[in-house]
Amino acid sequence: MIALITGANKGIGYQTARLLIERNVTVVVGARDDERGRKAAAELGARSVQLDVTSAESVAGAAGWIEKEYGHLDILVNNAGIALRQDDPAPSGTPADAMRATYETNVFGVVTVTNAMLPLLRRARAGRIVNLSSGLGSLAAATDPGSPFLEYNNLAYNSSKAALNMVTVVYSKELAGTSIKVNAADPGYCATDLNDHSGFRTAEQGAAIAVRLALLDGDGPTGAYLSDEGPVPW
Ligand SMILES: NC(=O)c1ccc[n+]([C@@H]2O[C@H](COP(=O)([O-])OP(=O)(O)OC[C@H]3O[C@@H](n4cnc5c(N)ncnc54)[C@H](OP(=O)(O)O)[C@@H]3O)[C@@H](O)[C@H]2O)c1
Repeated sequence: MIALITGANKGIGYQTARLLIERNVTVVVGARDDERGRKAAAELGARSVQLDVTSAESVAGAAGWIEKEYGHLDILVNNAGIALRQDDPAPSGTPADAMRATYETNVFGVVTVTNAMLPLLRRARAGRIVNLSSGLGSLAAATDPGSPFLEYNNLAYNSSKAALNMVTVVYSKELAGTSIKVNAADPGYCATDLNDHSGFRTAEQGAAIAVRLALLDGDGPTGAYLSDEGPVPW
C-alpha cells in the first residue's frame, strides 16, 4: 500500500508515517521544504516529495511524481496544518488576513491536495482519506458549557477545523458510491511545534487515530469524526 502524508517531516505527520511504515505501508513524506522532507524520509525509511499544500503547482508536481512512481495512491493523510501566533488572540483582534492564511493551509490546501490525488485514489482497491481535524473544530464542544475547550476561543484555527469537518462530510458524500472512505481524525492535544509543546499527549498518541482511519477495512465508517475514544460530537 502507498500512503502520502502531507506535512510529515515532523509532529503528528511524522509519527503517522512511522506507524504506517511499521504496518508495512510504503510512505511518501510530503514536505514543503525539500531538505526537511528528505531528512525525515531518510530517518523513517520512507521517500519524500516536495509538497506545499498552498501551491497548486507544487501539489500537481507531487501528484505527477506519485503517478510516475506508483501509478496509484491507497492512503492520503491531509495532515499539514498551521495555527498562527497572534499578538491579540481575541476574535475581535484577529485580522482577516490571518484567517485567510490559516484557511489557505488548513482548508483550501486540503481541497487542492484531495482534488489532485483523487484520480490516483480512485485507482486504489480501497482508498482512504484522513483529514487531521481537531476537537477545537467541534461546534458541539464550543457550545458546551462543560467543555474543556471553552477557553480556546480562536477564530481562525477553530473555524478552519470546523470547515474541514464539513469538507470531510461533503467529500464522503460524493464518494459514497466508491470504495474510498473519507474521515476526520481528532488527535487530541499533543505536544508539537504547533502549540510550543504545551500538549499533554505525545505526537505518537495523536497519530494513532490517523493510522486507524488510514487502515480502515471495508466495514469501517466514512464521513465520520473520530478520536481514540470514538465518535466526536460535531
Ligand atoms: N498538536 C495538536 O495538539 C493538534 C491537535 C489537533 C489537531 N492537530 C492537527 O494535526 C496536524 C499536525 O499538526 P502538528 O501538531 O503535528 O503540527 P507541527 O508539528 O507544527 O507540524 C505541522 C506540519 O505541517 C507542515 N506544513 C505547514 N504548512 C504547510 C504547507 N503549506 N504545506 C505543506 N506542509 C505544511 C509543517 O511543515 P514545516 O516543518 O515546513 O513547518 C509540518 O510538517 C495539523 O493539521 C494540526 O492542526 C494538532
